[in-house]
Amino acid sequence: MTPAKVRAEAARILTHLISGQQGSLANLMPRGTSADDAQGLPLLQELCFGTCRWFYRLEAQLQNFLDKPLKKKDADIHCLLLIGLYQLEYLRLPAYAAINETVNAAVVLKKVWAKRLINAVLRRYQRSRDEKQNSAAPPHNTAEQYAFPAWLADALQQAWPEHYPHVLDQSNQHPPMTLRVNQQHISAADYLLELEQAGFSGQVGKFSETAVYLDRAVAVSALPGFADGWVSVQDEASQLIPGLLQLLPGLSVLDACAAPGGKTCHILENQPRLASITAVDIEERRLNRLHQNVQRLRLPEHALRVKAADATKPDQWWDGSPFDRVLLDAPCSASGIIRRQPDIKLLRRAEDIPRLAALQARLLDSLWSTLAPGGLMLYTTCSILPAENTLQIAAFLHRTPDATEIPISGEGSSGRWGIQCLHGRQLLPENHGPDGFFYALLQKAADQPQ
Ligand SMILES: C[S@@+](CC[C@H](N)C(=O)[O-])C[C@H]1O[C@@H](n2cnc3c(N)ncnc32)[C@H](O)[C@@H]1O
Repeated sequence: MTPAKVRAEAARILTHLISGQQGSLANLMPRGTSADDAQGLPLLQELCFGTCRWFYRLEAQLQNFLDKPLKKKDADIHCLLLIGLYQLEYLRLPAYAAINETVNAAVVLKKVWAKRLINAVLRRYQRSRDEKQNSAAPPHNTAEQYAFPAWLADALQQAWPEHYPHVLDQSNQHPPMTLRVNQQHISAADYLLELEQAGFSGQVGKFSETAVYLDRAVAVSALPGFADGWVSVQDEASQLIPGLLQLLPGLSVLDACAAPGGKTCHILENQPRLASITAVDIEERRLNRLHQNVQRLRLPEHALRVKAADATKPDQWWDGSPFDRVLLDAPCSASGIIRRQPDIKLLRRAEDIPRLAALQARLLDSLWSTLAPGGLMLYTTCSILPAENTLQIAAFLHRTPDATEIPISGEGSSGRWGIQCLHGRQLLPENHGPDGFFYALLQKAADQPQ
């Protein structure tokens, strides 16, 4: 891809994303199967993810330089202007090259008329930056400063008055590349030595004994032992789950929203002598990756049962034998992983939250019936919004007489993690640390109420 084509492709992807049609950046990105595609892929990714990360700020800046809004049919040119601003504001490219290639992208989009407009807007923006020595215009409010949609910035301010705007700032940082070391093969400390011998550097995680943070992202194929199942890529927050589940040989475990199976595999790495582990997910296609990973990680397959099914309808997939442990890693807003998926800022709407909370409540209620008396259910989300987390659990405890909460102390391998909530424990996203994540541990009464 030529530099102009990369910018045109980024504009097409963003136009699709913003139009509200189905698709996330991860799905819209080309796979880079041809050598030509692969060459432009890093820049394409940078332009798409970066423009999403700063979208709300760039959008506000752009208004100062546009005489009138563009027509709806020219949304691609609007996106190209945002991509242009992003390059000038956040990338260390020579300004003339960024401007020229963005102008040329209009030709690739078959909109030659837009060349003059793009050239004029970007040059005026650059002049204004030069005059003010840095940023083009000061942001009007915190949401604009941190490039968040107002509804989400407000919700986070209300939820975390002491931690806001740190939470917003952390959500805009580039995420670390974190590995989960397969403890059936090697310890995190020994894997770090392997990494060093291969010319990479990193640190072991503070909270999970299987986590290794790389100082720099690398292709997984370059990681020592990746093909042989020594490591997987997984954030440290997710790696705390097996420890909380109190796994023992001979237990039966349900992973109710399992695809693509990162946590199922970790559970098996942590306790390969389970009687069974049942992985359920409504998306069959995403479950295929679970089989591939179980094989790569050389995990025992005899205990694994995989079911593509709706977890809210146990009568369609459950044989009636209760599970000793249930993990409900619920579908959620993903507000705790915006640093990894900045398109969440554009894709989520305020009205999604009550809809997701209702689905989570249905999952909690249905799956509770599959849990054995005395058994444990771990409810987790990668959300930092109370409606999906502590308030969700408060309501569940209120309507479920045989459920009690087991407090989570947050004792990690070298430090205490998270914030104790009214119910459950919350991690907020932290630079060089874990994603935003929520955990609540629930126990079913050993004697059922009459
Ligand atoms: C947070 S993701 C799970 C990630 C997974 N636990 C892992 O670690 O790889 C939530 C999952 O819930 C699934 N899901 C959503 N609604 C569901 C339902 N009614 N029944 C089962 N799975 C559902 C989605 O397909 C998605 O894969």
